[in-house]
Amino acid sequence: MTQKLSALNKKDTSWSGRFNEPVAELVKKYTASVGFDYRLAIYDIQGSIAHAQMLSEQCIISHEDCTAIEAGLLDIKEEINAGKFDWQLNLEDVHLNIEKRLTDKIGDAGKRLHTGRSRNDQVATDVRLWLRDVTLQVIEGLSRLQASLLDLAEAHFDTVMPGFTHLQVAQPITFGHHLMAYVEMLKRDVARFQDCYKRINRLPLGAAALAGTSYPINRERVAEKLGFDGVCENSLDAVSDRDFAIEFTFASSMVMMHLSRFSEELILWSSPRFAFIDIADRFCTGSSIMPQKKNPDVPELVRGKTGRVYGHLTALLTLMKAQPLAYNKDNQEDKEPLFDTADTLLVTLEIYADMLRLPVIENGVVIKAGFTVNKENMRQAASEGFATATDLADYLTKKGMPFRDAHEAVALAVRYAVDQRLELSNLPLATLQQFAPEIAEDVFSVLTLEGSLNSRNHIGGTAPSQVKAAIARARK
Ligand code: ARG
Repeated sequence: MTQKLSALNKKDTSWSGRFNEPVAELVKKYTASVGFDYRLAIYDIQGSIAHAQMLSEQCIISHEDCTAIEAGLLDIKEEINAGKFDWQLNLEDVHLNIEKRLTDKIGDAGKRLHTGRSRNDQVATDVRLWLRDVTLQVIEGLSRLQASLLDLAEAHFDTVMPGFTHLQVAQPITFGHHLMAYVEMLKRDVARFQDCYKRINRLPLGAAALAGTSYPINRERVAEKLGFDGVCENSLDAVSDRDFAIEFTFASSMVMMHLSRFSEELILWSSPRFAFIDIADRFCTGSSIMPQKKNPDVPELVRGKTGRVYGHLTALLTLMKAQPLAYNKDNQEDKEPLFDTADTLLVTLEIYADMLRLPVIENGVVIKAGFTVNKENMRQAASEGFATATDLADYLTKKGMPFRDAHEAVALAVRYAVDQRLELSNLPLATLQQFAPEIAEDVFSVLTLEGSLNSRNHIGGTAPSQVKAAIARARK
């Protein structure tokens, strides 16, 4: 009894009756999560209210206690929103901070809130509630980015640029077609988040510490109140697995990977060696030593932050891999990588959508395009480097020559042209005929950029009419 009393005297935590000495100061700091999990506060309150209502409906706590709990929690929510809540490291985490404050405010009713619940199912619920919101924001961010890309693609449905393989000029394409490739990638990204959402949106509450609870709870009712699609069907799984968070981080990594590829292109294209685009000043910085520099910081950072998000994915996978069932404190480490993944992704999507936007006038103020396109330079680059060599080979094949022979004839013509420092279209007809007598006057229409583009006229091809059709489909 003496021991119990002294324990109660030093009591800040909900479990200290069991302990003979206080937790070491350094250990408190080491084990506390309130420094970051306070971000879950409004979800914690939302979950607690639903839990209390269910307890009251099931006559596990009284109606009066439930009313007091609800009112107390709503007050606390206001304190938190107003920045007036006094978070205490001593109280370890967001859950115990809120519960203690509730009990200080409403007394015994506050102490009844935790009936039939554990922090294990509580935290799993909070994270899912939070991640559900974030996932919807991500999907919205992806949609906005797609909208920017579609507008840009529409403005450039027939802007000619070189398409590359191995970063060598390959065949002419349109810039609109290039942009539409990213619309496709983002489409799959959206689908990944939508799919992941289904697995996030399941209720762990009711699993209690690990095995369920002896109270006559109604889990489906709580799920319904919180807008979950259903309950996690195994209590051990409910409290311990974080696969839904790993999935979210994987889907985020995939988006970052796509944007990193695009960023790499923006960086290359904005270099004076390419000079395809000029990124607006608001996305760039200068150099402290070289006065001429304008650096494409935003795309570079997107590329860099991709590594950061991959790191979080690796951290979460590694966090789970050796944990025996069910809950282990290791899981507390899921939050910082997950929060940072969401923060990084959401801000990246927002900045990126702005960087890809066309110029607009908002409230009388002109907002410049995220980048301007130098069509002449793109076109010039497409007309160098034998981008239409494949078209010439196809031309010969259509005249009856087997494709492999046509390929070889054109390769020889290209080699000759390289030596002469000329493009294929600059070679006289008689010269071209030395490589293949089938070549006639009509070859020159095949060697033009537009001829090449327009000939790739099927679904998925780069012909401007197809790009327009692809944009129309994507807008639906
Ligand atoms: N702060 C903890 C976490 O994030 C809450 C759950 C604590 N559970 C426990 N059994 N210590 O995981």
